[in-house]
Amino acid sequence: MDGVKEIRRGTLQEQTFYEQVGGEETFRRLVHRFYEGVAEDPLLRPMYPEEDLGPAEERLTLFLIQYWGGPTTYSENRGHPRLRMRHAPFTVDRAAHDAWLKHMRVAVEELGLSEEHEHTLWNYLTYAAASMVNTPG
Ligand code: HEM
Repeated sequence: MDGVKEIRRGTLQEQTFYEQVGGEETFRRLVHRFYEGVAEDPLLRPMYPEEDLGPAEERLTLFLIQYWGGPTTYSENRGHPRLRMRHAPFTVDRAAHDAWLKHMRVAVEELGLSEEHEHTLWNYLTYAAASMVNTPG
């Protein structure tokens, strides 16, 4: 195999974003901090149908883990995300959008990620939040 550069299988492993930012623990910290904000929020808290925010915290955590390249437990439990459809029962207007992002911002900053990782994560969250708005005003 003259002239052919051989690269052993498995030696070129690319890390997912999920792995780069610290895996499950990072996403658990992020969403836990976010829900601490939601728990105190007069607009958002009443939107959550369950008394206990724990199950909602788990769903968002597993969704984000899956989205960023970690285990696919979210879809194994919940099926295809269809997030816009799942938010249809809730009034996601500008005020709800802003409150959601405000708590997420605090949670993202407290992770202390590198500037680049933080930017990537924040870009996605702002884009996703905008796409979830379903009520004008
Ligand atoms: C823009 C403002 C938003 C509001 C006010 C909002 C509100 C809610 C509410 C009230 C629920 C129901 C709680 C539950 O049963 O889990 C929910 C579920 C959920 N939200 Fe949001 N959300 C927003 C944006 C987002 C964004 C941007 C994402 C993704 C990046 C997201 C991901 C999810 C997920 C994964 C669930 C659980 C879906 C399921 O499996 O049933 N949400 N959201």
